[in-house]
Amino acid sequence: AALRMSGPLVATRFPLVGDVWITTTHDATAQVLKDGATFTLRKEDGDVAGLRWWMPSYVRTVANNMLTMDEPDHTRLRSIVDEAFRRRAIVAMEPRIRNIADGLADELFAEGRTADLVQRYARILPLAVISELLGLPLADRPKFIAWGNAMSSLTNVVGFFRLLWTFRKMRAYLEQQLRAARVQGGEGLIAELVQVEREGAQITPDEMVSMVFLLLAAGSETTTHLISGSAYELLRRPDLRDWLEQDWSRAGLAVEEFLRFVSPVQFSKPRYVRRDVEVEGVRLKKGDRVMVMLAAANMDPAVHDRPDNLDLERKPNRHMSFGTGIHFCLGHQLARIEATCALEALFVRWPKLGLAVDPAEVRWRRRPGIRMIAQLPVSA
Ligand code: HEM
Repeated sequence: AALRMSGPLVATRFPLVGDVWITTTHDATAQVLKDGATFTLRKEDGDVAGLRWWMPSYVRTVANNMLTMDEPDHTRLRSIVDEAFRRRAIVAMEPRIRNIADGLADELFAEGRTADLVQRYARILPLAVISELLGLPLADRPKFIAWGNAMSSLTNVVGFFRLLWTFRKMRAYLEQQLRAARVQGGEGLIAELVQVEREGAQITPDEMVSMVFLLLAAGSETTTHLISGSAYELLRRPDLRDWLEQDWSRAGLAVEEFLRFVSPVQFSKPRYVRRDVEVEGVRLKKGDRVMVMLAAANMDPAVHDRPDNLDLERKPNRHMSFGTGIHFCLGHQLARIEATCALEALFVRWPKLGLAVDPAEVRWRRRPGIRMIAQLPVSA
């Protein structure tokens, strides 16, 4: 809100990025994201934003995915997996997602009278769903949890090197899974990808690895924080919780508002400005860079009435939590269903669920870009 008073785009210096414009309004954010020809993810020489010459080659491999690509490569890769994430395919998964959520809710207090909702629930559910969708072995789930934790610990230099190490291990693991699927086939999206590769799809072996890497990473971390952020708000606001508990068919509507209010992805990767352009009256020059602040767009009073108010009945809700334009989140349907099932399963199973600490003492992790609760101790 403070930055927005200086304009819809503000020039600033950002840690690890350098000089960059950031958007503060809904309209500026939408204009940048919708014009993928002017605001590109790659420099003219094709380099991925954020990659440095000294970073190991495996980082380059995993970073080479649709989310870091411009057209036509972006559509070439996205069209290979688009079908699997269409509404009908995802809605068909709902009973299974519900089943996983119920099972995890049952187990929540298996080890004590209090439990950390992040580690025992919000982290496991999205990982269980996406790994099942991909066809990754159940027995490997502890590995994914450890990797997810490493990704969340990007808060300092140690965390950064831990993350690089994690990328290395993930790449080796995913290469091995793809090799196995090429030999034996199997169930799930990885086996389907291998099949389309065989049928001549335009995708290189390295791009296969980074595709699966992206789905695994993007499909878990963000949804974890949507679930824990939403549960936290319900646990400290009895009036909202009552309203939802009276009728769980309202959960879909509520999740839209949680998406806006929690804004799990706070800002996007920097985009390169490819030509002189004006955005909402601000002039940008070719060669400048822009980062869109999704969280600021979600709090823009020009679009959202009383944006600081968590209004679970908000309609329309033009939040930007999944971005917009060609990179609009591929997993938006899945994330919505997961969050809806997660909240219902949790609060129905444990009607007396409460925070085990004062709300003000809940620890947030200072990872840039993703808004996350580090630990959410709850009791039944
Ligand atoms: C892209 C947010 C869940 C897969 C994006 C983008 C955002 C986003 C903001 C666009 C980034 C940009 O333009 O720079 C979220 C949030 C989620 C979520 C807030 C949960 C609450 C998921 C899930 C998947 C997923 C469950 C499942 C696989 C992807 C992929 C992209 C993407 C593959 C890249 C799409 C492209 O480049 O065309 N997501 N996401 N996301 N998301 Fe999600």
